[in-house]
Amino acid sequence: MASLSSNIVDPAPLSGIEGAKRLAAWTAVDRHIKPEHKIIGIGSGSTVPYVVERIVAQGKEVNKDRVFLPTGFQSKELIVKGGLTLADIDQYTELDVTIDGADEVDPELNCIKGGGACQLREKVLAEAAETFIVVADYRKNSHLLGTAWKQGVPIEVSPFAYAPLLNALLSPNKLGAKSAKLRMSPSGGKAGPVVTDNGNFVIDAVFSESEYKNPKEILVKLKLVTGVVEVGLFCGMAKVAYFGNEDGSVTAL
Ligand code: 5RP
Repeated sequence: MASLSSNIVDPAPLSGIEGAKRLAAWTAVDRHIKPEHKIIGIGSGSTVPYVVERIVAQGKEVNKDRVFLPTGFQSKELIVKGGLTLADIDQYTELDVTIDGADEVDPELNCIKGGGACQLREKVLAEAAETFIVVADYRKNSHLLGTAWKQGVPIEVSPFAYAPLLNALLSPNKLGAKSAKLRMSPSGGKAGPVVTDNGNFVIDAVFSESEYKNPKEILVKLKLVTGVVEVGLFCGMAKVAYFGNEDGSVTAL
């Protein structure tokens, strides 16, 4: 294990997609998590563990004065297992930085998020942060939303309203999605709808190419519908996105 600085230890190298995720995460932490940043939001997904790994590597001395806010159960576990101080948005309503993954990012930094059904808490922590940073592997870097992430826009909905919402999404004269379906838990135990950390359901809705050219219009249209809790479209929120590439380079948008 090679030492990167006095208190940063380089863990085993990774290649392929995992290496690309780690590269993006480490770059973001090195550039944006500075000693003066004390209130930090931690996103969800498979790239975020590398964010926490790099923050932990900054050392106990700097981390002892920081608090970390999770966007879901997974990031809560990462924070606790990393020996970092867990805190809640009720206590800290303004964050210095939030770092999170994304399912797809377009050239204007509009993102589709919510592949892990955490989009409500993710958006709350992104919005409350002075700086919101996205980290992902190169597959998420897209010229147009909907081309890389084909599952659709994750929409968190009240369970009471999911049936009329599905109907409205599928009706050409209402919300007019190309397709929409209720997200189900992978079978194994009792198969049923995915339930978010907030007790809601998720509908994944695919829109047309012309609609994806104006993601903010989709966002506004959906947010006006009763029963929609949050939409996994993050428009104009990220300051920068880092994409790790398999050749060891990083693309910044
Ligand atoms: C969860 C998310 C994740 O950030 C998104 O799905 C990206 O995950 P990964 O880093 O595994 O690609 O929005 O709701």
